[in-house]
Amino acid sequence: CAIALPVAKKLHDLGCKVTSVIGFRNKDLVILEDEFRAASDELHLMTDDGSHGEQGNVCAPMRRMFEAGRKFDKIIVIGPLIMMKFAVVEARPTGIPCVVSMNPIMIDGTGMCGGCRLILNRDGKKITSFACVDGPDFDGHEVDFDEAMDRGTMYRDFERHSYEETCNLLNKSVEA
Ligand code: FES
Repeated sequence: CAIALPVAKKLHDLGCKVTSVIGFRNKDLVILEDEFRAASDELHLMTDDGSHGEQGNVCAPMRRMFEAGRKFDKIIVIGPLIMMKFAVVEARPTGIPCVVSMNPIMIDGTGMCGGCRLILNRDGKKITSFACVDGPDFDGHEVDFDEAMDRGTMYRDFERHSYEETCNLLNKSVEA
């Protein structure tokens, strides 16, 4: 949600009505609550375990608002892939434009290596896109999230190895 805050702030400063929904695993991980409150006309704070705000994920208030017939000009979703996928599922029946921010691993950042490739479904066609040069913001209704999540697991072993290597380095004692 740290990335969403400047967007909310700017829109709020421009006079837009901003409804923010922010979610965390628990109260110890909550950040920027006051800042979001100041940048929003309405704030829904969710925690998975209910230790702060309302219990549940960000989809719950979205669903409630859509079912109540609330209208929005745009939905902006930033966060883990699985959250963005299901937020888009909630948004889809409303037809409201929905922007998602994709953050796959990027290597060269020039559209050459293919590391950040995404598949978009547009007008019945599959379109290859690159988050580094075509994004990172995309129309959430077009993104193939399952494919993106699948690709996200490709480097998991390397990531784990790298993480463990770092941890072990920190565990080493230094002799004077
Ligand atoms: Fe290499 Fe995007 S980072 S194509």
